[in-house]
Amino acid sequence: MGKGFPDDFLFGGAIAANQAEGAYLENGKGLGICDVLPVGKKRLLNINTKIEESKYYPSHNGIDFYHLFEEDIALFKKMGLQCFRFSINWARIFPKGDEECPNQDGLAYYHKLIDCLLEAEIVPIITISHYETPLYLAETYGGWKNRQLIQFFRKYCQILFKEFSNKVQYWMTFNEINNIIKIPWFAGAIDVTEEKNPAQTEYQAAHHMFVAHALVIKDLKEANPNAKMGCMLSLSGIYPDTPNPKDVFGSYQFRRKSLFFSDVMIRGQYPSYTKRLFKELNVEIDIHPDDLDIIQSYTSDYLAFSYYLTTVFSYELQMTTGTGGPQGKKNDYLETSPWGWQIDPLGLRYVCNELYDRYQVPLMIAENGLGTSDVISDAGAIDDTARQQYLKDHLIALSEAIEDGCEIFAYTWWGIIDIISAGTGEMDKRYGFIYVDKDNQGNGSLERKEKTSFHFYRNIIEKRGRNLY
Ligand code: BG6
Repeated sequence: MGKGFPDDFLFGGAIAANQAEGAYLENGKGLGICDVLPVGKKRLLNINTKIEESKYYPSHNGIDFYHLFEEDIALFKKMGLQCFRFSINWARIFPKGDEECPNQDGLAYYHKLIDCLLEAEIVPIITISHYETPLYLAETYGGWKNRQLIQFFRKYCQILFKEFSNKVQYWMTFNEINNIIKIPWFAGAIDVTEEKNPAQTEYQAAHHMFVAHALVIKDLKEANPNAKMGCMLSLSGIYPDTPNPKDVFGSYQFRRKSLFFSDVMIRGQYPSYTKRLFKELNVEIDIHPDDLDIIQSYTSDYLAFSYYLTTVFSYELQMTTGTGGPQGKKNDYLETSPWGWQIDPLGLRYVCNELYDRYQVPLMIAENGLGTSDVISDAGAIDDTARQQYLKDHLIALSEAIEDGCEIFAYTWWGIIDIISAGTGEMDKRYGFIYVDKDNQGNGSLERKEKTSFHFYRNIIEKRGRNLY
């Protein structure tokens, strides 16, 4: 038996509304930007906002978590989950985004979901916007490049805090906010395809999100002073390709383009390197007189991040980005998943230390997981050994990071139950410890099945990780 995790550490799982709920127009819900993304490898680059009959849109039915959540939460309880991170689908509460009054049916749904978690003694952790901007706000206002989004988002949050802040302690505003400069439509509902200088629009949108984030921290504390608001970033790791200073400093600068977001949201100010960064990108953002004070006054209580892989930066190569994090050169020291993601448990320890050294705020691993297809044996069993190995290795790395002195309060495995992939819309890229019978084209009974990993994780949670070594 090894060291184990602190008593108050939360083991959990995570999903997002648009990848699980389905019921895309039920009970007054409006369309979100994900509802117009068809299945396919280039899905995140799709800016077509019309639904075409000939295409399949996986968010429309998801895994029907909207109707099946009670059954699923019963399975989470059986697995021993202590917390569950999920998102609220913005367009379920404000179908267009700019209405005066919220949709009561949407609020009633999330009351039921949260109550069900609390009854199961599972701590709810809410993402307020997980790539789920209402489509109407994108089409009519141009998404987050428009300053008016601040007030729409704030109103949405105020309603959520009024309804749920007495039941929910942990919140985070925008999923992977740093992806606005890499996948801007998905992360910020902004279309930069016609822009002469996309960076100008992206950083302006980011500024609006920073102000919104700060203002809703103020609102949350007014509703419940004990509640905590985190910022959430995609922070899979990056190594330099060689000791060539061009690779080393290049990878440092590349990493800083992500850390820029947490620098602002945790330290409460634009970092000193911003001036040069903006000059080189030819970016001049419009900052209103009170904005910087607001950003400084209300900073994040914790840093949540997703970590799936590491990649290698070479100054000679262009990096690309999708879900999971940036992709550069292949690292010959690491194994690669069938979807091309390089598996690096020690990298998680490295990133935790990097972030805790920089910020000294509590950390939460909001997403970590292995997406791979499953094989069902003739006897109906799903023995997902690769996924168990990934979990085990990453939890060992995490416990080492805690030993190193990093304050880490929660780990939520992504996606705890099979859901549709954000990057491609496929079902076959499965992360879950619970199998869902559904294929890439939406066929299947939706029946849930426990994989071997289900029992493996339950055992780890029960022993608080002492059996990992
Ligand atoms: C993260 C997203 O970037 O990666 C999740 O926050 C997503 O929504 C996850 O599902 C894994 O990516 P994918 O493309 O495999 O679903």
